[in-house]
Amino acid sequence: MSLVETWERPVVGAPMAGGVSSPLLAAAVSDAGGLGMLAAGYRTPEQVAADLVHVRDLTDRPFGVNLFVPRPLDRAALEPRVDDFAGRIAGEAAALGTEVGLPSWHDTDHWEAKVHLVETLAPPVVSCTFGLPGASVVQRWKGAGCEVHLTATSVAEAVAAQAAGTDVLVLQGREAGGHRGTHDPSVEPEPVDHLGLLEAALPRLGVPAVVAGGVTTPGDVRRALAAGAAGVQVGTAILLAHESGASRTYRVALRSQHHTERVLTRAFTGRVAGAVANGWTREYADAPAAFPVVDQLTKPLRRAAAEQGDLERLHVWAGSGWRAAQERPAGEIVRELAG
Ligand SMILES: Cc1cc2nc3c(=O)[nH]c(=O)nc-3n(C[C@H](O)[C@H](O)[C@H](O)COP(=O)(O)O)c2cc1C
Repeated sequence: MSLVETWERPVVGAPMAGGVSSPLLAAAVSDAGGLGMLAAGYRTPEQVAADLVHVRDLTDRPFGVNLFVPRPLDRAALEPRVDDFAGRIAGEAAALGTEVGLPSWHDTDHWEAKVHLVETLAPPVVSCTFGLPGASVVQRWKGAGCEVHLTATSVAEAVAAQAAGTDVLVLQGREAGGHRGTHDPSVEPEPVDHLGLLEAALPRLGVPAVVAGGVTTPGDVRRALAAGAAGVQVGTAILLAHESGASRTYRVALRSQHHTERVLTRAFTGRVAGAVANGWTREYADAPAAFPVVDQLTKPLRRAAAEQGDLERLHVWAGSGWRAAQERPAGEIVRELAG
């Protein structure tokens, strides 16, 4: 029986890379009876190891860690467009007093080292987004005692994730904040919401499914469970929680009365992500589908935007329910969601 079938509250605190999912946030969600998650994406293996030790110090409850699955890029096809994009954003970088980041066409997220780290430190749960680890990696993690959660954004991806041996499926709908976990980043993610995806996937499900995307109220949780989900994964609902590592500018942007629209955009990183619309999403909607290279180019600009309080150049990841995000302790939010 998987953890999500035995947990006290059927709420996963979404892994949120980029500094949001602090060990404090993960521990607070787990202590409230949900499943707290660390985000390993963008972090070095050493930082991830330190986070795992830290969260273990903070809570005795189960928690997990999430990895980005790398995908090789077609450099020959994409490089001219990436170079063109870098040229286009050079003026934005100058305006922010920084420079466009350097692109790397190799795995800079240390996948192999992180796979090994998970096997060695064996957190109770390991989840993946952006693709599937090979079945042999899944078996290594299971052999170490980890429960494996793989993300899918379509029925075809859900079927493939089960074939790879996942214990739990994370079914992510279009309402989700942050990156869509679509396995092939060059295709447009299916425009299906989490309930539609769950309904379509149900006849093919052999493992419990956790649904993600736009879940911010107890009613959303009830509907998901009634539709057959084993639980929900919430990101936006805990973005403003006291323990969240969201920057000050991010918090201001989420509450801005001038920003009222949400878009799905590749403008910041080259991968489709749910974000609050701003000057950058309007100007660079045609950014090339080249994650993580576009992400690397824009990173210094986004860091400077966060430091300078520039809401028009910051990536303000947000799910469809972003207006309902609350500034409270994460444990209170989890308890309220679960009813
Ligand atoms: C700021 C932010 C960062 C995210 N980073 C990750 C990540 O590192 N790994 C991952 O699997 N999902 C990530 N997600 C997506 C969440 O796992 C989840 O699918 C999403 O938050 C659900 O939609 P909601 O934000 O409307 O609750 C991120 C979401 C946000 C808002």
